[in-house]
Amino acid sequence: MIRAVHHFPQGFYWGTATSSHQVEGGMLNNDWAAWEQLPGRVVQDHKAGLACDWWGGRWREDFDRAAETGQNAHRLSIEWSRVEPSPGSWDQAALESYQEIIQGALERGLMPMVSLQHFTLPQWLAERGGWLSEEIVPHFEGYVRKVVEHLQDWVGLWITINEPNVQAYLGYGSSQFPPGGESIGDAFRALRNMLLAHTAAYRAIHLLQDGAQVGLAHHYRGMRPLNARNPLDRVTAALRSTLFNRVLPRALIDGRLRLPLPRERIEGAAGAQDFYGLNYYTREHVSFDLRRPGELFGRGSFPPDADLSPGGFIANDPDGMWEALRWARRFRLPIYITENGVEDAEDRIRPRYLAGHIRQVWQAANLNWKILGYFHWTLVDNFEWDRGWTQRFGLWELDPQTQERRKRDSADFYAEICRSNSISTDMVARYAPEALPQLFPGRQPGLLG
Ligand code: GAL
Repeated sequence: MIRAVHHFPQGFYWGTATSSHQVEGGMLNNDWAAWEQLPGRVVQDHKAGLACDWWGGRWREDFDRAAETGQNAHRLSIEWSRVEPSPGSWDQAALESYQEIIQGALERGLMPMVSLQHFTLPQWLAERGGWLSEEIVPHFEGYVRKVVEHLQDWVGLWITINEPNVQAYLGYGSSQFPPGGESIGDAFRALRNMLLAHTAAYRAIHLLQDGAQVGLAHHYRGMRPLNARNPLDRVTAALRSTLFNRVLPRALIDGRLRLPLPRERIEGAAGAQDFYGLNYYTREHVSFDLRRPGELFGRGSFPPDADLSPGGFIANDPDGMWEALRWARRFRLPIYITENGVEDAEDRIRPRYLAGHIRQVWQAANLNWKILGYFHWTLVDNFEWDRGWTQRFGLWELDPQTQERRKRDSADFYAEICRSNSISTDMVARYAPEALPQLFPGRQPGLLG
């Protein structure tokens, strides 16, 4: 009987990723808190509310869970609106709370990766135009300096901005995120200002901290034409993929932002990332749709035979992870998978999703691609933006009312992967037997155990 154990490189980081607004609770002063008050913006008008109550201290028990299940890293974010509640005024107590949280991670053996901006903006800044106004750049730089000055003794791995493409297109193009804009030109402007802000922050961090590693979390979504024989579908898929996946990362190679704005070279952007942070969830088919200018005239869909998550939000498509890794590898930088996961309250699809995606990461690492770590999205169910509490991505289930947590089987599966730094036939046979024939072709399912 063939049994395979796929080992990961020694020192590989295994963790989960979270973000401030989604887990902390009691958020009052940012654009998402304001957005949640507007009827119809979030599914069923859900609110983040207490979220996972990390600001109330429950990060301790959740970090215990992460550490006890073999994780050795955690990606979290700092909430700008807490640190700088009004322009130029700094909340020292908030900085100290973050220090305590990060020290708490380290004490539990979790290497912190810290994101400085994950979707939310202080409300005062949103009122001044948010990412549409170039005024945000010096503000962001000032905030980043403040945080890095305070936390640099404990943190060496920074993400400046989470998913600039998602923020720009969903916030300014398709109106799913605040501020609810529907102008593709504005989405481009926002993307440009994020690149400027990232570049300024990248330099500021390196001036403050020797040996800092600074990057972005880039969302990559594979896009193929729905009908490959239809030239409109082909052009739309290529255009969407270029503008969504490629334009911003490529500007970090040569400083040139190839957007349909006045073409421009962004001073200092070339080479301004030390690693490639990759968020991958799914791939889609794209068809041409004239009615969707804010979405670059494209409509996304999944193939009829796709292995869909319960909400139909994600197709389990591990080959897309491979495509995303190949893209990331072009940058000749170390790669972190900064997010990957699936919404699945019943934990039916997650085990095979985990197995398939982690197997692809192993394949790349096995070819000596420099993959340094994998952060699963996410540790405990949390507030899923415009989808509110309807989508559950946690290894642990959360009842937001009672704050009770319950472990899903995937948490045990992931724990075995983290502890052994490997994924094996035996584990897959126990947690996701249906994935065996695909992941370990040539052997008969059912022979094991
Ligand atoms: C990402 C985002 C996360 C999380 C995840 C799952 O785009 O960075 O905050 O919400 O999607 O929906």
